[in-house]
Amino acid sequence: MSKHEDQRPLDAEPEFNRFIDAAVSRRGFLRGAGAAGTAAFFAASPVAQAVAGAMDSKLIGFKAIAASTSDTINVPAGYKADVLISWGDPIFRNAPAFSQKSNSAAQERQFGDNNDGMTFFPLSDNRAVLAVNNEYTNNEYLYPHQGKSITADDARKSQAAHGVSIVELEKKDGKWQVNLDGKLNRRITAFTEMEMTGPAAGHDLLKTKADSTGKKILGTYNNCANGQTPWGTYLTCEENFNGYFAATSPVELSATDKRYGIKDKDWGYDWFKHDKRFDLAHERNEAHRFGWVVEIDPMDPTSTPKKRSALGRFKHENAALTVNNNGHVVVYLGDDERGEHLYKFVSKGKYNPDNQAANRDLLEEGTLYVAKFDGTEGKLDGTGQWLELTWGKNGLTPENGFPDAASVMIFAREAATQVGATTMDRPEWVAVHPGNEYVFCTLTNNKYRGVKESQPLNPANPRTKNPYGHIIRWAPTGGDHTADTFKWDIYVMAGNPEVHPEGLMAGTPNINKENMFNSPDGIGFDKAGRLWIQTDGKYSNKDNFAGMGNNQMLCSDPKTGEIQRFLTGPIACEITG
Ligand code: FEO
Ligand code: CA
Ligand code: CA
Repeated sequence: MSKHEDQRPLDAEPEFNRFIDAAVSRRGFLRGAGAAGTAAFFAASPVAQAVAGAMDSKLIGFKAIAASTSDTINVPAGYKADVLISWGDPIFRNAPAFSQKSNSAAQERQFGDNNDGMTFFPLSDNRAVLAVNNEYTNNEYLYPHQGKSITADDARKSQAAHGVSIVELEKKDGKWQVNLDGKLNRRITAFTEMEMTGPAAGHDLLKTKADSTGKKILGTYNNCANGQTPWGTYLTCEENFNGYFAATSPVELSATDKRYGIKDKDWGYDWFKHDKRFDLAHERNEAHRFGWVVEIDPMDPTSTPKKRSALGRFKHENAALTVNNNGHVVVYLGDDERGEHLYKFVSKGKYNPDNQAANRDLLEEGTLYVAKFDGTEGKLDGTGQWLELTWGKNGLTPENGFPDAASVMIFAREAATQVGATTMDRPEWVAVHPGNEYVFCTLTNNKYRGVKESQPLNPANPRTKNPYGHIIRWAPTGGDHTADTFKWDIYVMAGNPEVHPEGLMAGTPNINKENMFNSPDGIGFDKAGRLWIQTDGKYSNKDNFAGMGNNQMLCSDPKTGEIQRFLTGPIACEITG
């Protein structure tokens, strides 16, 4: 959500801090930390103090629902859940109807598979454009043969089911529906032509046998979460791109291949057998052309999507954009892998609200940073720094393996290690509070925390094996998102107070037997400042996860820390979007 939609100032945090202080000591959560330990983390700004009490004190108005193991969607009394569109549904008037037997040509004209991040772009009260990421495919559903013998057209069908689906919506009889005649309807797939921009564009590491320019890339895939810009474009984020590469004959993998999870075996897609660019024995540079944030203009179906190399190459989760007070555009970016990092991009240029066309390339040039969280063992708050990932600075030099500016972006993970970034418990979505004073990030879980030597416990990731995940938040110094420093605290540690009545495994005090969940993933704020939390975790409902049921969506009041369950999903279904 753009901060421009609603600038209503919001109350600050003192109530929640008092709440945490009291409850923390109640549960013996922090050894030796008294009330002073977490007091006054977010000082109320003069504006916030002036409006305190002017807002509804109760942000959450629905009646929370119970955890569920039923194979359906549940929402509170007074609400209704409906299906808008499903994988394989036509998105053009004359496109074929869904069939598991559909070929690639049909799939190119149908809605993609496995939805993840999405943005609703309103055009009027009863017209809108919806852009939806289609993250991956399941062979067992995609093909009548369940993937036993993937042909060339099967592989192309899989590529066509990935990417992004853009559909026009219209509200008819009070209900949003897909408009099959919408002029903006479009499929972007793993073979749609794109342009690489920014510091890595045209670099030798991006040149391939099929593209000597190093700028003309085919497609986007494994599009996890998303972002949007105030100039009306959609950001789609490439996550587990590694799982699509394999080798038809033995290859030697580099240290950087390994850091990005590239192996000589793929995850079962078989693209490499039919599309040589995914065969490492044929092409080593194709993998450098994925793992980026891609900017798409959903209002122009003929536009060429642009990969934004200034935002770094890693396993991108989402792209949470805000316009800072001084006009610079700031984008927060998570790298979803155990022990990887949290990033921030600051644009070189400034946002011009009076000339949207002038903002089109703000993401082409800027500075990338990575987060370092400092703190004291046993406390759930601290301070932090943004470490600059600029070639020639902070040891990002040829002697350390960074021959030029492009290499810092292409191997952003290694650059982050070089500068001393904090290893995190899988950074998933980031969300900027609509008051623009603080930022939240989900850390979904990490079985290696405190287990692998490279991922020791640290104040921001304090739980061994972190089976439930947590949400961290930070306030930039002086309310300036371009500042190099910040204060942070842990907003919630998910946990199971039923199974573990004491200690870190019980979770923070805003977790109770009625609102338990694990593996927070999608998060977003609505205009009123409610935080919506979606999960992608264990749904076994037993042992550590007893009482949590299926994946779910919860609503939280960041002013009080209160969390209530709003939605539960079908069995095995991640809740996202
Ligand atoms: Fe695609 Fe990190 O979830
Ligand atoms: Ca996710
Ligand atoms: Ca996840």
